[in-house]
Amino acid sequence: MPSPLILDGKQTAAQIREELKAANILRIASGQRPPLLVAVLVGNDGGSESYVSHKIKACSDVGFESRLIRFASDIRQDKLLSVVESLNNDAQVDGFIVQLPLPPQIDSQAINLAIAPSKDVDGFHPVNVGRMALGLPTFLPATPSGICELLRRNGIVTGGMHAVILGRSAIVGSPLAQLLARPGEPGNCTVTLCHSKTIGIKEHCLRADLLVAALGKPGFVTADMIKPGAVVVDVGTTRVKDHSRPSRFVLRGDVAFDQVAPLCRAITPVPGGVGPMTIASLLTNTWQAATTP
Ligand code: GUN
Repeated sequence: MPSPLILDGKQTAAQIREELKAANILRIASGQRPPLLVAVLVGNDGGSESYVSHKIKACSDVGFESRLIRFASDIRQDKLLSVVESLNNDAQVDGFIVQLPLPPQIDSQAINLAIAPSKDVDGFHPVNVGRMALGLPTFLPATPSGICELLRRNGIVTGGMHAVILGRSAIVGSPLAQLLARPGEPGNCTVTLCHSKTIGIKEHCLRADLLVAALGKPGFVTADMIKPGAVVVDVGTTRVKDHSRPSRFVLRGDVAFDQVAPLCRAITPVPGGVGPMTIASLLTNTWQAATTP
C-alpha cells in the first residue's frame, strides 16, 4: 500500500484564509468596513478558551474585526438572553457565536433559539438546520462543512462512496450525514450513521470507503476496523493530560493514527486536520454574513 495522502487541514485552512484576506482587502478598498464576528464565552473551560482564542486570532489573520465577550460561569439565563438580543440588534455585528458547552443553569437550546438566524454563523439555529436539510443557502455548521471543504480541496471524490460516520451529534455527525448524502461533490455518498447504541460498529467500519470518527473516544478506531484504501477523517480532539508538555496536555484523536494510516488512501492528522478547517469555515460563514444582503 503506498503511503497515505495526509489531508493537511492546517495548509488547506491557510489557503482559505488567504482567499478571504484578499477578498476583504477589496471590500475595504471599496469603502466598506471589515466583517465583525463576536464570540460569547461563559466560564473558563480550558477547551472552550482555546477554541475561542483560535477563532479570534483567525479573524485578525484575515483582517476581520472580532470581539470577545466573557461572562462568569454563574451568569443567569435571562442576562445571557439579553446579551443575545442586543447582538441581534447591533447593526455593526455581522455574526456571533455563543461557545458551547454552557453551564448547567443555562438552557442551551433557549439561547440557540434566541439567536437571529441571519447572524447564526455556527449554523445551529433550527431555521438554518432546516434550510441545510432542504439544500437551501444557509450557514453550514463549521466542522461538517470544514470536512467537506478539506475533501474537496484535496481532490477526494466522494460520489458513490459508502461513508460511515461514528457519532450522531447535532454539531458534527448528524449534519455531516446530510451533507455527504446530498447531491453534488462532495456528496452523493451512501451514508451509515453509527452511535453508542449501534450493534456491530466494527463491521460497519469495515464497509467504509470514507470513515469519519466523531465520538470523542481517543484511539477508538483501530487498524482492524479499516477497509484497505479507505479515506479516514478524525474529528476527535480530546485533551489528554501530558505533564511532559508546557501546556500540560496533548490533543488525541479518535483514530489510532500510527496503525491506521498505513492502510489508508488518505487520512487527517490530529492536530492539524479537521480543527483548522472548522475555524476556516467559521470565517467563511462570517464573510457570508457580512456580504449577503
Ligand atoms: N463547542 C464545540 N464546537 C463548537 C462550535 O462549533 N460552536 C460553538 N459555539 N461551540 C462549540
